[in-house]
Formats: sequence, structure tokens, C-alpha cells
Amino acid sequence: MKDYKRILVSAALPYANGPVHVGHLAGCYLPADIYVRYQRARKRDIVFVGGSDEHGVPITIRAMKEGISPQEIVDKYHSLIKDSFARIGISFDVYSRTSAAIHHETSADFFKKLYDDGMFEERETEQYYDEEKETFLADRYITGTCPVCQNPNAYGDQCEKCGSSLSPEQLINPKSTLSHNPPKKRKTKHWYFPLNEFEPFLKEWILEGHKEWKNNVYGQCKSWIDSGLQPRAMTRDSSWGVKVPLPDAEGKVLYVWFDAPIGYISATRELLPDTWENYWKREDTKLVHFIGKDNIVFHCIIFPAMLKAHGDYVLPDNVPANEFLNLENDKVSTSRNWAVWLHEYLNDFSGCEDVLRYYLTTIAPETKDSDFTWKGFQDANNSELVSIFGNFVNRTFVLMHKLCSGKVPPLHLEAMDDDDRNLFADIKRAKHTIEELLEQYKFRDALFEVIDLARKGNQYMQKKEPWIKAKQLTDDLAANKPGLATAEQLSARQSIDNCMHVCLQLCANLSIFINPFLPHTAKKMLHMMKVVEKMLDWENGGKEKLLSVGYSLRAPELLFRKIEDAEIAAQLEKLQQSKNGNVMPADATSEDTTPSFAPLKEEIVYDDFAKLDLRIGTIVEAVKVPKADKLLQLTVDMGFETRTIVSGIALHFSPEEIIGKQVTVVANLAPRKMRGIESNGMILMAEDAEGKLHFMKPENVVNAGATVS
Ligand code: 2FM
Ligand code: ZN
Repeated sequence: MKDYKRILVSAALPYANGPVHVGHLAGCYLPADIYVRYQRARKRDIVFVGGSDEHGVPITIRAMKEGISPQEIVDKYHSLIKDSFARIGISFDVYSRTSAAIHHETSADFFKKLYDDGMFEERETEQYYDEEKETFLADRYITGTCPVCQNPNAYGDQCEKCGSSLSPEQLINPKSTLSHNPPKKRKTKHWYFPLNEFEPFLKEWILEGHKEWKNNVYGQCKSWIDSGLQPRAMTRDSSWGVKVPLPDAEGKVLYVWFDAPIGYISATRELLPDTWENYWKREDTKLVHFIGKDNIVFHCIIFPAMLKAHGDYVLPDNVPANEFLNLENDKVSTSRNWAVWLHEYLNDFSGCEDVLRYYLTTIAPETKDSDFTWKGFQDANNSELVSIFGNFVNRTFVLMHKLCSGKVPPLHLEAMDDDDRNLFADIKRAKHTIEELLEQYKFRDALFEVIDLARKGNQYMQKKEPWIKAKQLTDDLAANKPGLATAEQLSARQSIDNCMHVCLQLCANLSIFINPFLPHTAKKMLHMMKVVEKMLDWENGGKEKLLSVGYSLRAPELLFRKIEDAEIAAQLEKLQQSKNGNVMPADATSEDTTPSFAPLKEEIVYDDFAKLDLRIGTIVEAVKVPKADKLLQLTVDMGFETRTIVSGIALHFSPEEIIGKQVTVVANLAPRKMRGIESNGMILMAEDAEGKLHFMKPENVVNAGATVS
């Protein structure tokens, strides 16, 4: 392993066109923060950079749709994201933004250097243009009929029905998603980066040189490299972004994926105007990019090739990308509002920041996609944090006040037994294991190790039962046998002291070990122990004498509170509303990410399916439900009867436009009250990749009440 002198950690710059959700947090921000906090505690020279990614087509399109400027959009979300990160404790040394002047300068200079070195190839191509909206169209903003499967809603880059990779030219009857007019071809000039020329270097550097990278990362890189790399346009036609720093480049900006990773450099410059180059241009810097899996190609292939082409910069030592986090067994979707938004969590669970950090670390998608469930969140809190970690610390402090007058009791060496010695040995072992795991980016296992140590503390205390021995002493006192008159009494006192002493030293160690993961908790523990932050230095971990004998400690403070069923039910209800059509206005879709599909639900047998009674109905009346933006109250003719059904589609359809439509109804769903109205059944909708809802209706009009099977 290389002998590095300093570490530079980056976490992916989130797009500033929507808030961040727990998937983002689990994907890269939490692991990055744990790693950084641990390295800081080790007193390593480390810098943690982040910021908002404020360019790119989705932001301009969103601004166009909302009739405001892109700057207004990014200003709003940059503040929201920055604030949420601070509240959950993501300890960036700098949280910058790509609309900052320093970033425009840094990325334009970077481009210019490559240009001056003759790196780019200038190519004139024809691209689709929306004449009404006066803009070139990114592939994703053109739809048309798929030439392979005839799906009429295929995108210019991919058909989501048959999965074919497409180019806009292949679409039959292409239309702009902005004006819905057929786009026209227009000539345009762009600068292409010859990624193909870096293939031999990338093969050697990654496939030979970085076999230690995580399997998911290495595998993705290998498949990209094996399928052959092509030159990539690094500029776009747009007015929003970093202007191309060339005289003949009016209306051209840098491609968002060219400038965004340079954002890491700009952020370092902003933080350390005089010394930033030490972190970027010296071979003894360890550069680590924390990202989610959709960013692998950009951080492992394209950005390193850019850095290599530039020549002055270090390359990443590792890119420990995580897989995706699903939510309640469904893919997180910002457009469908199927997400747990960080800022909402922080408001709903104020004071429980570390609970989210804990749960997300325990289910982190380190090797494969994983699933956030509210029940799992509650269990993790109630059965692990409260019952194991919190319980041990609380019992120790309560008993120390009860049995040792709130002071650290002495350790009677002559009375130490194997249990005491074993627990001290466990602490030392845990320290080494946690270190090893953290250095290998195995955060989940490292956290389990900490919890396991607290579990051992509970077992130890349970075995020692100092309260029984204390009772014996009290009973003796009542029976007029005061003091430590007998050998039994002396031994009981020593056993109490030793147990409490060992437990307190374990608490102190636990605060050091838990600190990278749950910093708010570590802080509370410091307060209870009346010690300064310095004690959390990693080198103190494993020590047996962190708290001095006779030192008086504060009264216990509960580290974690129980999370009640009602709180979980409220969150599930909130999510259910999203299913009913409570859709976020934020279109936080990213550029150049492959659309993915909701995971398949568990297999069912025919009998499960046969339980559903699906019928065709006709909507005969529709009105908005007062004080509920998302709900429509529908009267549906079911043939055999007329029913009231409340449906969460008001953001997608006006009442007038759906009267007379045939719909598919789950007819035997138990009635449910929504906003005081009893809803008798559910209307089935299909949801496209943009989160738009479509009725499921028969191809031809059929009689109301017709069965569907
Ligand atoms: O996928 C995303 O959210 C991108 N905004 C990540 C950019 S990371 C880096 F390159 F800046
Ligand atoms: Zn298709």
C-alpha cells in the first residue's frame, strides 16, 4: 500500500434542482462522512470537499417550465441541501457550488489547457432543435415511436419498454417534449474529448492497477472498457453553464459532466487558496471519490482520463461507490415523490439525526441494492440503539450514581477476574477490527462491531449484577453490620467498583468508536463524562484508563428515545399519499443516467392474483376534494352499482377532462376513508418514467362492470 501523506475526500455534487433524500445519504454522503470523521480522529491530514452541481439540462428545462431563471432554482436548492447536510452532520470542510465564480474560472482554465494541448477534436454535427423554444434538445427531451417495439413514448436515448438503446435519429415521428412540435435538425459545432485514446491507459490503470476496488465498481469499469470507448462531446449548446473559453463559441457551455467533477478542485481552491495544490498535484495525496453507482463511469473513466490528459493532477486511489437504496421495496423516485426527503426527516424527527445515520449505515447498499423500510428504521432504533447501546450507557451512568456516588470508582487489581480482563481485551480487539474495516470502506461491518462491543458490555454487567451486591451491603447495614467488616463485604464492594469502573471505561471507549458514525451521540456522551473533545482522538481507543478514578460525572441523559408506532404509521401514510398521486413538483432527474425500473415484487401464485376483482367502470362525475390538492372524488358507474372512489390524481388531471373515461377498478378493495370520504375501490394507473399517470382502460369501450382477468 502506498504511503500517503494527506487525504482528499470528495462526495458527489448533488444536482441543485431538488432536495436530497435518504438514498443519496446512504449512497455516498454518510460513508464519506464516516470515513472523514474517522481519519480526522486519527489526526490524518484530510480535506472533505462537496458542493452543489448547478448546471445541466434538467435545471434549465425546469426553470423554463416554471418561468424562473436557473439561478433562482439552484439558489433555492443549494441552501436547502447545504442546510440539511449540516443538520445531519455531514462534516464538509467546504460545501461550494458550481455556479460560483471560482468554479467557472477553474473549469474554463482546465478546458483551455486541454484545448491548447490540442486535445479536442472539433466536430460539426446535426442536432435536433426546438424552434419554438429556441433550444437544442438533449436526447432525453425528444420522444417518438421506438423502431424496435413500436412503443410510441420512447426517448431519444432509450426505449424504456424494450430497453433498446436509441439515438434520436432512430425515433419515428420525433417530438420535442418542450413544445411537442417535431424538432428540426440544425448544424452545430462541439469539442470532442478522445476518450478512445485513453483506453490503453485506463486498462492498465484500473484493470491491472486497481483490482482492489469494490467488485461493483471494478466490474462496471471493465464492462465499459471492454465495450470500447468513444470520443465524447464536452460542450453543449446552452446559455446556462460554464462558457466555453474560446472566441468562436458563442452560446456554448461546458458539458455538465465535464465541469461537475472539476467542482471538487474548485471547492478545494475555495477552501485553501494557498495550499490547494498540495491536495491535487502531489503524488502522496490519497484521492477518494464517494459516489453512487450511477456515477461510476464519470469518476472512474471520464474524469481520470481528463485529469491524465491535463497532466498535473493525481488520480483517485479509490472510488468506493455504493449501489442503490430502495424504499419500501420500490425504487426511489423523485418525480413520484417516492422518497424520504432529508429535510422532512430532520423536521419530523428532530433530535434523532443519529438514528437515521445509524439505520442507513446498517442497511447501506455497499455490495448490492438494499431496502429502507420504516419498520426497519423503528426496529433498528428500538431494538438496537435504545436496547443495546443506549441501555448500556444509561445503566452504567445510573448505577454509577446509585452505587458509587457519581464518581469513577477505583479498579481493585487484586480483585480483577477473567470477565474484567476479557472485556478490556475485547475493547482492544474491537479497535483494531473497526480500523481495518473502515480503511477498507466496510462501514456497515465496522458499525456492527461497535454495537457488538456495547452488547458485550450489557452481558458483562448482567453477569456481574452489581445491584445485587449493593443490596447485600445495604441489607447488612440494616442488619447492623456496617462498613466492610467481613471478607464478603469487602469482596462485594470491590466487585461493584470493578464492574462500574470497567463499564465506565467501556463507555468512554464506545464514545470514541461511535463518533465517526454517530457524532451527535458521541457529543452527548462527552457531556455526560465531562471530558473534552480531545478524548475522542482515535489513539485513545483501546485504553483502559480514559476516565480518572474519583472524577465525578454528570447525571445520565437518555441517548436515544423510543420511536412510537404512531410515528411510523404517519410516515407510511405520507408515502401512501405519494402512491395516490401526491407528486413533487421537483423534476430532479439527472443527465446521462440510465433509467432503471422498479424492482419486481415478490412472486405470487395464481390464487393471490385471483383474489383481485378487477372491473371496468366509467367515470360519471369528478370533483376536487376540498383542502386536498391531490385528491379527486369520483363517481364511477360500475354497471351493477355506482360508487364513490377517492383517487390521488388531482395533480395530473382536471375533473372535466376525465368525465366519461373508462377505467380499471379494484372492485373488492376494503372501503377506506380519505379526508372523511369513504372510498370504495381503487383506480389503476400506469406511471411512465417521467412520473406521468395514464389510465388503464380497455382498447375499445366495453359495458361498465365488465370483468378483467
Ligand atoms: O448524479 C448526480 O447527482 C451528479 N450531480 C453528480 C455529480 S458528481 C461530480 F462529478 F460532481
Ligand atoms: Zn422499444
